[in-house]
Amino acid sequence: MMLEARALKAYYGESEALHGLDFSLGEGGILALLGANGAGKTTTLRAISGMVRAQGSLTYEGKSLLGRPSEEVARLGVAHVPEGRGTFLRFSVEENLHLGAITRRDRTRVARDLDQVYAQFPQLYSRRRQKAGTLSGGEQQMLAIGRALMLEPRLMLLDEPSFGLAPRIVEDLFARLKELNRELGVALLVVEQNADLALQLAESACVLETGRVVLSGRARTIAADETVRRSYLGY
Ligand SMILES: Nc1ncnc2c1ncn2[C@@H]1O[C@H](COP(=O)(O)OP(=O)(O)OP(=O)(O)O)[C@@H](O)[C@H]1O
Ligand SMILES: [Mg+2]
Repeated sequence: MMLEARALKAYYGESEALHGLDFSLGEGGILALLGANGAGKTTTLRAISGMVRAQGSLTYEGKSLLGRPSEEVARLGVAHVPEGRGTFLRFSVEENLHLGAITRRDRTRVARDLDQVYAQFPQLYSRRRQKAGTLSGGEQQMLAIGRALMLEPRLMLLDEPSFGLAPRIVEDLFARLKELNRELGVALLVVEQNADLALQLAESACVLETGRVVLSGRARTIAADETVRRSYLGY
């Protein structure tokens, strides 16, 4: 397994937000993390990228991630695309992409990855001099993903990539995510409220309710079970 959580707990101050999660993601795989508002999806991604205090066991490529600062987790190849996207609105598209590679020294490979991001997202190339704050919602989401790719990640954590986007844009974006996964072999951990969509993209899925895993299994099996869909996913 590339990423494995066992009895993972996470805290905001004294308050426990995750009560012992188990989940795993294989090398190059796609895992969807589903659940309603406040279920603990974002907190799970924060626990992985070292932004909240966590306990239990959490390993990535055989190394424990617990207690590592965010920069170090990023350097291990884990890129986090946060909720609300986190791009620098006053900087241009290209400046934002370079910022994604700020910890890297290998200038030639950075240049190659920039070309790769532009190939993957041609809209970003034609808008490369434009300020990020003036991009459309869909373009900003692409920029956030592009910036994460500049880290040369092995694993990407995506927090509600579909949020606020029109259905057609979302479909396109998810098709690109699938391509990134296939062509670059980047593993994806995708947090979504849009369960239908996420289950089409992912191989396996995990449903959270108030900080606990209430259901996990193959995405296809979950999507095919109407009772499960109704009781856990509300569609
Ligand atoms: N900074 C914080 N301080 C204190 N409690 C927090 C903080 N962030 C989140 N929580 C609490 O932790 C729980 C899980 O929140 P989290 O943001 O992980 O949910 P989520 O599944 O991502 O929800 P959403 O779909 O609304 O984004 C919630 O009860 C929330 O109120
Ligand atoms: Mg969230």
